[in-house]
Amino acid sequence: MTSSQHLLHLLAQKQGTYQSGEELARALGISRAAVWKGIETLRDQGHTIEGVQNRGYRLLSLSTLLEKERLESMLGDHEIHLFDSLDSTNRYAKSLASEKPNCKALVVATHQSGGRGRLGRTFHSPRGGLYLSVLLPLTFSVQEAPLVTSIAAVAVARSIGQVCARTCSIKWVNDLYLDGKKVCGILTEGVLGVESGRVSALVVGIGINVSTPMHAFPLELQEVATSLYDGEQAIPADFDAHALVVSIVRGVEELVGQLPDRTFLAEYRERSLVLGKRVVVHQGKEHFPALAVAIDDDAHLVVEDEAGAIHVLSSAEISVRLES
Ligand code: BTN
Repeated sequence: MTSSQHLLHLLAQKQGTYQSGEELARALGISRAAVWKGIETLRDQGHTIEGVQNRGYRLLSLSTLLEKERLESMLGDHEIHLFDSLDSTNRYAKSLASEKPNCKALVVATHQSGGRGRLGRTFHSPRGGLYLSVLLPLTFSVQEAPLVTSIAAVAVARSIGQVCARTCSIKWVNDLYLDGKKVCGILTEGVLGVESGRVSALVVGIGINVSTPMHAFPLELQEVATSLYDGEQAIPADFDAHALVVSIVRGVEELVGQLPDRTFLAEYRERSLVLGKRVVVHQGKEHFPALAVAIDDDAHLVVEDEAGAIHVLSSAEISVRLES
């Protein structure tokens, strides 16, 4: 570990509390000038550290910033496109797909000004989150393509479990929930092959609230959204955004291999927040209450309405809310 990493650990152990330069220097066995230099290095890496005369330094927030070189070395077979801020990583990945067929790529941003959500909605993407799109240059049938959203949901939930030790549920079809609130949204978009009429590449877009301060969301979302770490103060020093991103990319690619036999659906069902629950199905201006009875092998949600009629819901244009 470098001395700036040691310094970060010390600051993170007492996050929010001031520690004097002298105290830090003593604990690390380095000079006060070296502490100051280390603080500058950490600030350059995106960590927010406050320094106040006669009190010392305190860590306000850890960075979720990523390093391109590190991602490149961890994901050697991918083009990495890393942005501080971008309109939409999905939009960028789709244009990449049309410029460079067969390109395997990862597009990541720490802020989006025009994040895209399902059903033509906006996806608010303030700082404190991670916004990524995985470009899969593979041919999918139109029936298979929507299943990749379920694959991504399983891959992200697993990765959050492994890297952050948090257990997420999946709310059909594309949301990850933590303690009853949304922590991640997924939007899969297809790139249509002009001649084949089949999907020639898929862009899997994933937005995760990592340490997003709730005030960064519009009021109506503040009640229903959450972060992996509750606000800026709480990211543990050993949180590694690179490990999370890489685990997600590898997970998505591994599970795509299970498309023919749908093995991933067992975990998708196990993590389901809606199975066996009463829900309200929204389709355009219509809505009706129902019981969620199954998720079929195409990841369609099977519901039974109050008259006992069975409806098989595909994700298109439909959203489901848990009945309160
Ligand atoms: C939803 O909840 O409706 C889906 C949200 C998907 C958001 C991600 S963030 C990265 C990628 N880029 C986008 O513009 N959207 C997806």
